[in-house]
Amino acid sequence: MTPAAIERFATPLALKGSRSERQLRCRVLQSPLAGVSDRIFRHLVRRWAPDALLFTEMVNATSLELGHGRRKVEELAQEAGPIGVQLFDHRPQAMAEAARRAEASGAFLIDINMGCPVKKIAKKGGGSGLIREPDLAARIVDTVAAAVAIPVTVKTRLGWCGSDGSAADAVQWCQQLEEAGARLLTLHGRTREQKFSGRADWQAIAAVKDALSIPVIANGDVNTPDDALRCLAETGADGVMVGRGTMGSPWLVGQIDSALSGRPIPTTPGAAERLTIAREQLVALVADRGDHGLLIARKHMSWTCTGFPGAPQLRHALMRAPSPQDALDLLDGQLQQLG
Ligand SMILES: Cc1cc2nc3c(=O)[nH]c(=O)nc-3n(C[C@H](O)[C@H](O)[C@H](O)COP(=O)(O)O)c2cc1C
Repeated sequence: MTPAAIERFATPLALKGSRSERQLRCRVLQSPLAGVSDRIFRHLVRRWAPDALLFTEMVNATSLELGHGRRKVEELAQEAGPIGVQLFDHRPQAMAEAARRAEASGAFLIDINMGCPVKKIAKKGGGSGLIREPDLAARIVDTVAAAVAIPVTVKTRLGWCGSDGSAADAVQWCQQLEEAGARLLTLHGRTREQKFSGRADWQAIAAVKDALSIPVIANGDVNTPDDALRCLAETGADGVMVGRGTMGSPWLVGQIDSALSGRPIPTTPGAAERLTIAREQLVALVADRGDHGLLIARKHMSWTCTGFPGAPQLRHALMRAPSPQDALDLLDGQLQQLG
């Protein structure tokens, strides 16, 4: 990286225009990941990336209203470092109410999900469904921004293609969001139809970045520090958000942050450290969620326990471990074998 680029990324990113303005000290964001980015996962990510903006899993405004989504928001108080609460729904007032609740619980900012391609959500008009309802999307941003003092941001995709396959106009869509009061936009470089297929279109992100005055965060297919550097060079974006690459690799956000800041990149953990992380995550999940914690831990263990001799056999056994103690015994056995 050139010294100019290092200086650019070392400068905090200001989110201007809200009553309570915010600055991001780190240009790498951990993406919201439903079923993954819970408090325990975020705690691990934070170990390598103390200043990064992390997100809750997406929270449905209605579930907050009814009470069952509250835990995801109320547990923010226990966390160090900035956490954005990501909300989804198609009802402006419900979103405003949920945003107030999240702000009162300590959210650093409110992010509105306008990208989720899951049919059940999009059909009801939430997530990527809002791309087809730009006026409603703008009303939601505007209503939520009026309800809270902290910044309101949007995470979205390039668009929703017409039934004739015509390309969506990402620039126009994102400009509408900026005009409605979004203070930062994260753009996943795929359309709604693409879901996760094909490659993220970083050129399309560059066109949006060019057209907007608010910060733009590039998202999609950033899985290594090198990817991040290439993505930032290609898109001109103000930062990157990483998602799937962090699954089983909670150190990735910190590694990318170091690369962008010109610091030595922390080494990727080897077998013993991976097993210790898997163990820690399992113990924390079971303490928090009881036996159900084992089910959640299974997928994390399957992602983390890779890249060492015997890893496939260990994963196979972990997926079938009937109790948390059996899973712990397997991890401890493997740790002992490593000496
Ligand atoms: C398991 C999983 C859960 C996700 N959950 C959310 C979510 O709750 N909110 C959201 O905006 N995006 C969600 N996404 C999308 C990611 O945040 C991200 O935009 C996408 O994976 C592209 O980035 P990547 O290539 O770095 O993974 C999810 C993706 C995956 C794979």
